[in-house]
Amino acid sequence: MKALITAGGHGTRLRPITHTQNKHLIPIANKLMLGYALEYAHDAGIEEVGIIINEKDKSIEKAFGNGDSYGLKITYIEQSAPLGLGHVVKIAEPFIGSDPFVFYLGDNILVGGINKFVDEFQSNGSNCHLVLSKVPDPNRFGVAEVKDGKIIGIEEKPSNPKSNLAVTGIYIYDSHIFEAVNNIKPSARGELEISDAHQYLLERGYSITYSEITGWWKDTGKPSDLLEANRLVLDNIKDNRHGNIDSLSTVSGRVIIGEGAEIIDSNIRGPVVIGNNVKIEGAYVGPYTAVGDGCIIINSEIEYSILMNDCSILNISRRIEASLLGSDVQLLRSKSKPITHRFILGDQSRVEID
Ligand code: TTP
Repeated sequence: MKALITAGGHGTRLRPITHTQNKHLIPIANKLMLGYALEYAHDAGIEEVGIIINEKDKSIEKAFGNGDSYGLKITYIEQSAPLGLGHVVKIAEPFIGSDPFVFYLGDNILVGGINKFVDEFQSNGSNCHLVLSKVPDPNRFGVAEVKDGKIIGIEEKPSNPKSNLAVTGIYIYDSHIFEAVNNIKPSARGELEISDAHQYLLERGYSITYSEITGWWKDTGKPSDLLEANRLVLDNIKDNRHGNIDSLSTVSGRVIIGEGAEIIDSNIRGPVVIGNNVKIEGAYVGPYTAVGDGCIIINSEIEYSILMNDCSILNISRRIEASLLGSDVQLLRSKSKPITHRFILGDQSRVEID
C-alpha cells in the first residue's frame, strides 16, 4: 500500500499566512502540519508516499526531504494548478501504479492515526473506503447518504444534506479510482471533483464502504480550525521540560519546554508547548498555546494561540487570545508620544483592538 498526500491548493482561507508560506507548513503544537500525515502513514505500515505540491513550490521538499527522518520514501509530484482533488489523483497514477493507496488531504488532523481505516479497507475488500465524521454543518462538506450500512450517494456541499456524515479528507482506493478520475468532467468551478469520482464508482456498481471517525477530526481550512487542531494536539501531549524555570515562576499542567528556554517570574498553565530558545518574563502563558522557537514574551498575557518562530510580544496590557501570529511578528507597546496605535500589516491581515 502507498499513500498520496496533498500539499498543494490555494490556501485562500488562511491568508495572510499563506501569502508567504504553504499552509501545510504551519505548525500545530510546534510540529509542521504535514508531519502529522507522514507519521500516520508510517504508523500504518506504509513505506512509499507521494506528496502533491504546487508547481515550483520547493518549500515542502525543503522541509521533508526524501522522507528518511519519517522512515518513508517520498516522491514529490507537481500539480500544474489546483484543478481539484480528482485531478490530484489523476496525475498521481504513474506513481501509484496498480497498488491500493491511502489518499490523505494534508490539512486534516485527527486523533489516533489511520491504521483502523486501512485495516477495515483490507478486510472488507472494497474498491473505495471513505472515512466519515458526524458534523453539525454538513452543507460545508461532501455528504454521504447511507442506507443499511452502505453508501448509496455522495453530494458535494448540498443545500439539503441527506445526512450529517461528512466525507473527511481520508480515502482508501484500489486502482478503479483511476477509471473514475479519467472519465469525470470538470465541475462548474472548473475542478475535477473527488465527489464526482465517488459518484462514478457508485453508479458503475463498485463498492464503497466506510468507517466513521468517533474521535476528533479537523480539516484546518480556516484560522479558527488551526487553533482547534492545536488545542486537540496539545490536549494529548506528555510533560517534557528542558530550559530554565526560575523560582519565581509557576508551571502547572502538562507542558513541553524546549532547550535553551528561559522562564522568569512567569505563570505557565498547560497544556502548552514552548519551543527552543524562548524567553518568557513577567508573563502569563495560558492553556492551548504553542510558542515557536526564538519567541520573546515579556510583561504580557496570552492563551489559546499559535505563535510561529521568532515572534515578540512586549508589554501588551490586555490579554491576547485566539490569535495566530506568523513568523517574526512583533507586538509592542508604544513608547514615544503621542501614544497611538501604529500598524505595519501585510495584505489581508486582521487586527481586533478595543
Ligand atoms: P482545500 O482546503 O479544499 O482547498 P485549498 O487548500 O486550496 O484552500 P482554500 O479553500 O482556503 O483556498 O484543499 C484540500 C487539500 O487538498 C489541501 O491539502 C490542499 C489540497 N489541494 C491540492 O493539493 N490540489 C488541488 O487541486 C486542491 C483543490 C487542493
